[in-house]
Amino acid sequence: MKPTARILLFIAALPGLACAAAEATGTPQSKSWLSPSALVVSADGHHLYVACATANRVAFFDLQSRTISRTISVPASPLGLALTPDGRTLYVTCAAPESTVSVVDTASAASVASIPAGHTAMAPVLSPDGRTLYVCNRFNNEVAFIDLAARKTTRRVKLPREPISAAITRDGKFLLVANHLPAGPAHADVVAASVSIVDTARGRVSREIALPNGSGLLRDLRLSPDGRHAIVVHQLARFHLPTSQIERGWINTNAVSLIDTGAMRLINTVLLDNLDAGAANPWGVAWSSDGRSFTVTHAGTHELSVIDFPALLAKLARLAVAPTTAVPGGYVGTGTAADVPNDLSFITGLRRRIKTGPADLGPRAVALVGAKAYLANYFSDTLTEIDLAAATPHPISIPLQPAVAMSGARRGEFLFNDASICFQGWQSCASCHSSDARVDALNWDNLNDGIGNQKNTKSLLHADLTPPSMWLGVRASAEVSVRAGIRNSLFTVQPEEVAVALDEYLQSLDPIPSPHLAQGKLSDAAQRGEKVFFGPVAGCAECHLPPLFTDLKRHGVGTGGKYDARADEFDTPSLVEVWRSGPYLHDGSAATMRDVFTSRNRAEKHGKTAPLTPQQLDDLVEYVLSL
Ligand code: HEC
Ligand code: HEC
Repeated sequence: MKPTARILLFIAALPGLACAAAEATGTPQSKSWLSPSALVVSADGHHLYVACATANRVAFFDLQSRTISRTISVPASPLGLALTPDGRTLYVTCAAPESTVSVVDTASAASVASIPAGHTAMAPVLSPDGRTLYVCNRFNNEVAFIDLAARKTTRRVKLPREPISAAITRDGKFLLVANHLPAGPAHADVVAASVSIVDTARGRVSREIALPNGSGLLRDLRLSPDGRHAIVVHQLARFHLPTSQIERGWINTNAVSLIDTGAMRLINTVLLDNLDAGAANPWGVAWSSDGRSFTVTHAGTHELSVIDFPALLAKLARLAVAPTTAVPGGYVGTGTAADVPNDLSFITGLRRRIKTGPADLGPRAVALVGAKAYLANYFSDTLTEIDLAAATPHPISIPLQPAVAMSGARRGEFLFNDASICFQGWQSCASCHSSDARVDALNWDNLNDGIGNQKNTKSLLHADLTPPSMWLGVRASAEVSVRAGIRNSLFTVQPEEVAVALDEYLQSLDPIPSPHLAQGKLSDAAQRGEKVFFGPVAGCAECHLPPLFTDLKRHGVGTGGKYDARADEFDTPSLVEVWRSGPYLHDGSAATMRDVFTSRNRAEKHGKTAPLTPQQLDDLVEYVLSL
């Protein structure tokens, strides 16, 4: 589509105007793709329930015949599944700005009820007494407690940022929730996401378990069968170092963190990479029923790791000192507990790495049925069956539908998430921009604008419509940046068609409606804030011109810091979907939107905000967060 046509379409979708049917994932969704992304085993072990994220349906996969026996349509992208212990009822979180939970009767494969949920509901977890369903409302930054008898949310617990997976202790007292991204500013020494421990009786967070510095992009969190341990997979970014090389985990490493659920403390964080082979984008986790091993999918390198859990625990227990969340790079003795998050050989001998095979791309969820592992391959619409009991497993690829050739934006989305086009598989574009081309909330010292001046990762939404590119505008366009990204972030040379597909993917991105909107419309406060934004005092619209809220020009707005000596004029960023892309400013120094107009606008060069009353400031913040 031509840029002008996209802008016109985009104007039609602005809040308050005609509301386009927006998809919750913000990525292109074609009904021809299934995109299997969540799996649950039926109570009798005969079926897998397969959530098909872009087809709005759940498939019942018969393990004996290896075919889909039934499918059920759901109202929106089914991002999560939870089954009652008797196997009769399947709860499906259907993610949208106003999500629903479909209550599915598995015997009749029919949806029998629908319960309203928040923005982008996912990761449903049943309480042991079966009365409550806990759901992560990702973009409301909260966990909702849904009373299943009353079929409504009775409590909401605020969490740091983008809760994405959860598990409950066997006594039902604590819900452990993985936050996808770090909250807070990015120019700090320590930046890491946490696991929130929610006290279910009190309905509040009782503790945040901090993961090591650089932890982010958390995915699956799962409790061991005996309930004594939890593991969560994530990335461990070395964001203090310039991105000048990639060998030996110099930029991003891929990790699993072990939590002792008795003491509710972090045991340690173990790297899943090898010295010369990254294991990018760890995503799904499943435990064997005896708790003797757990498996992790690597969505970027198309692999499964099978890890010997007792041996891993024993090896960790032999180390003397407790882990530290201090700055990596500070000296810690090798062979100590504190060094484990830096040790690319720690897992050696305790884990098997199994490739899925060329027909199976982007494994996300994994489920175990006896000794067999089933992987849901998001980009190839296949399952992989792997017999873990075999000495040399031969993965079997099972198509869920006749193959549809990947083309254009879909292929670009795949490549964006593919680390096999990166030197040694250390990372994919999604390792910094997350799986849907947004942010990791970290600063990186890319060499595009010299060394020693870190920049906050930019969301790539509308990157194609807002040249020049990068905070300093050092690249002429998104296309130029894409090619530089392949060279300088993946450290490989790729044929031009790879770059073209990535371009097409970025061009296909649509904004997600803000969680600050009320039924798709600006709230009263945001409407007042709109007047402030366009009013003569603040003067925001001088530079942030609708519809994209940028004049595509560089300005000095008094935000330059001590590392920006070379240039402190920045390319005016678009404000569309800015609710999602914090922390703010080129150096990620504004943790909240309010900080942008207060502590980070002391010089009053970035719009006039000092004359605004506290009420006007609140309203302005609400408006900008609604865009
Ligand atoms: C190590 C983290 C990292 C990886 C990996 C990475 N990026 Fe980026 N990307 C960034 C950061 C940080 C910025 C902002 C840098 C700046 O403005 O100077 C950025 C900016 C961009 C921009 C400019 C956006 C705009 O509107 O100004 C594009 C386009 C982009 N990246 C595409 C990609 C692609 C495509 C890949 C994979 C080939 C990729 N990136 C891999 C961190 C990363
Ligand atoms: C003179 C042009 C100009 C004016 C006037 C202006 N801005 Fe900006 N705005 C910029 C530039 C340039 C940046 C990038 C600064 C940086 O990254 O350090 C920016 C950054 C921002 C950001 C951070 C976006 C992000 O992704 O991190 C927000 C939010 C914002 N402006 C909102 C506003 C509001 C609200 C007003 C009115 C009070 C305003 N701006 C006035 C040019 C302007």
